[in-house]
Amino acid sequence: MENIERLIINRDTCVGCGLCVNDCPSKALRMTDEGVNYIGRCLECGHCVAVCPTNSVSMPVLDMDGVAEYNPATFDLKPENLLNSMKFRRSVRFFSNLEIPEPILLQMLEAGRHAPTASNTQKTRFIVVQKDLPEFKQMFWEGMPQILEQMKAENSPALANFERFYHNYQTKNFDNFFFNAPAMFLLVTNNVWDAGLAAANIELMGHAHRIGSLHNGFLKRAIPANSKLMEYLGIGEDETIAVVMLAGRSGVSYSRTAPRKPAKFEIR
Ligand SMILES: Cc1cc2nc3c(=O)[nH]c(=O)nc-3n(C[C@H](O)[C@H](O)[C@H](O)COP(=O)(O)O)c2cc1C
Repeated sequence: MENIERLIINRDTCVGCGLCVNDCPSKALRMTDEGVNYIGRCLECGHCVAVCPTNSVSMPVLDMDGVAEYNPATFDLKPENLLNSMKFRRSVRFFSNLEIPEPILLQMLEAGRHAPTASNTQKTRFIVVQKDLPEFKQMFWEGMPQILEQMKAENSPALANFERFYHNYQTKNFDNFFFNAPAMFLLVTNNVWDAGLAAANIELMGHAHRIGSLHNGFLKRAIPANSKLMEYLGIGEDETIAVVMLAGRSGVSYSRTAPRKPAKFEIR
């Protein structure tokens, strides 16, 4: 075994095929007479681990326990079924308040963390509020008058919606922010592209478990405006909530997909 900083290459099993050298996006590996050498600039993308036919590369700084071996039997996803599932995803605004079982939550998070990130920074923090959601919602609604004052002072274009939601909550006990959802996902990162990709993975994984979701721009606007909520969630002033998504079983079933605007595709 030779320890090459972040990489361990097992020279007893390495066959010198060079696949890791070719697939390294930052050209951090070089083939020499003694075998593969690490020459720096590693992005920690793990491609060298993934591509090696003899499982001779490991990266101790990464979660090696989560690495799965290729198994063709697990790739039985048919393209038309995948597309159909994507088309049958709907934004849920009537949730049943049944809790999402923890193994499913963990699988959704796992799907999110395997999305690509710019420069492979993997900086996104994933926060799920389920057990604490009733307490969080109570604090949320208690803070609403203050948020409305702030929005009035700022002449916020979202004020009319917020006032209507508050009115509905007070007079009809209808909650246009949380829609009775049992769980809320927050993705904390200053890279909205990373967050969007991770959220799409989480949403699709949930969908496979018949867990519906709702991206919620109003909550994304409201939560950072209340410092008590941010403190409760442990989100620092220098951090950004990029995605707020509700999740849970849908109280509505759909008989068909929803129509979209005419496609704006260009293939040149
Ligand atoms: C970034 C983003 C923010 C959204 N915010 C809200 C929201 O605050 N409240 C809401 O009811 N729906 C929200 N939606 C849901 C959209 O209205 C919904 O995706 C759209 O109407 C299409 O419906 P579908 O998701 O069922 O296809 C949001 C969607 C996205 C992508």
